[in-house]
Amino acid sequence: MKIGVAGTGKMGAAIASRLMSLGHDITVWNRTAEKTKTLAAAGAKVAATPTQLAASSDLIISILTNAAAIAAAYHGKEGLLADDVAGKLFVEMSTVRPETEKALAASVREKGGALIDCPVGGTVGPALGGKLFGFVGGETADVARAKPVLDQICRRVEHVGTVGAGASMKLAINLPLLVYWQSLGEALSLCKPLGLDPARLVDIISDTSGAPNVLKVRGASVVAALRGEDTGPITFDVDSVRKDLQTMMEEAQALGRTLPVVERALECFDQAAHEGLGAKDCAMLSVSWARRAAK
Ligand SMILES: NC(=O)c1ccc[n+]([C@@H]2O[C@H](COP(=O)([O-])OP(=O)(O)OC[C@H]3O[C@@H](n4cnc5c(N)ncnc54)[C@H](OP(=O)(O)O)[C@@H]3O)[C@@H](O)[C@H]2O)c1
Repeated sequence: MKIGVAGTGKMGAAIASRLMSLGHDITVWNRTAEKTKTLAAAGAKVAATPTQLAASSDLIISILTNAAAIAAAYHGKEGLLADDVAGKLFVEMSTVRPETEKALAASVREKGGALIDCPVGGTVGPALGGKLFGFVGGETADVARAKPVLDQICRRVEHVGTVGAGASMKLAINLPLLVYWQSLGEALSLCKPLGLDPARLVDIISDTSGAPNVLKVRGASVVAALRGEDTGPITFDVDSVRKDLQTMMEEAQALGRTLPVVERALECFDQAAHEGLGAKDCAMLSVSWARRAAK
């Protein structure tokens, strides 16, 4: 099966690398062609346009910033859907609202293809190691077609409903994960007077129920940030955190729900971005809050 990857940002590049390491025939496309060079050097074919990518692939994975990026990649003049896509299967992995995936699936259907949504839990490291968690929405037969490939990218794949269900699940998963960075910042500010070594402090918190899995995985970044050192390669930046929380707010509004914790966390993170942290690693959110001067 020929696989195409639309979007070779942090996640798309890692997923393409993973699939290439397993011997798949991979073609990639990215708006900024420069970001396909490393993959091309490793043996990936590079499509000049999304239309070409779709033409040369049986299964097309897209993993892009947001709904606007999806619209550009799928519906642009040289988009994935510019030509007939009969028999092709699209696997949309971006973190967006369910409505975005449902509308896209309808457009793909009109062109003769099929689409499932499969946003993922886990970041660059798990993607490279085939250890993501895929939250899938789609028709059973379409999901079954994609499953052998998804199983090579993910440690676990859960088919949770029709198209858009994966997106709902992903937003739910990311909610406690992302607001955690704010709660950790507030917790760190409470123990600031203790003057503990950052590594010891994070080690103590990590060994308690006050830490979700993310602190066990990303604790070293928090320690580095507390010490004013480089946090290492950025896998999920502050602007992406804000984008996801904003998407949750929009989804809640459509469902007639309120998300007061998300709303307040987003205000704090917007402030952090305003102070120049937008492109920094999400671990910086907690640290910048903890460093804030006492009122
Ligand atoms: N990073 C993570 O840990 C993680 C984990 C799970 C899910 N996700 C989700 O996965 C998606 C991608 O995240 P990422 O971290 O890989 O982001 P990223 O590194 O910023 O990559 C974003 C990708 O979207 C493309 N893009 C943005 N706007 C576009 C437009 N208007 N037209 C065409 N392409 C456009 C970018 O192309 P250019 O290179 O040309 O800008 C790039 O390929 C997001 O929805 C994110 O929420 C991320």
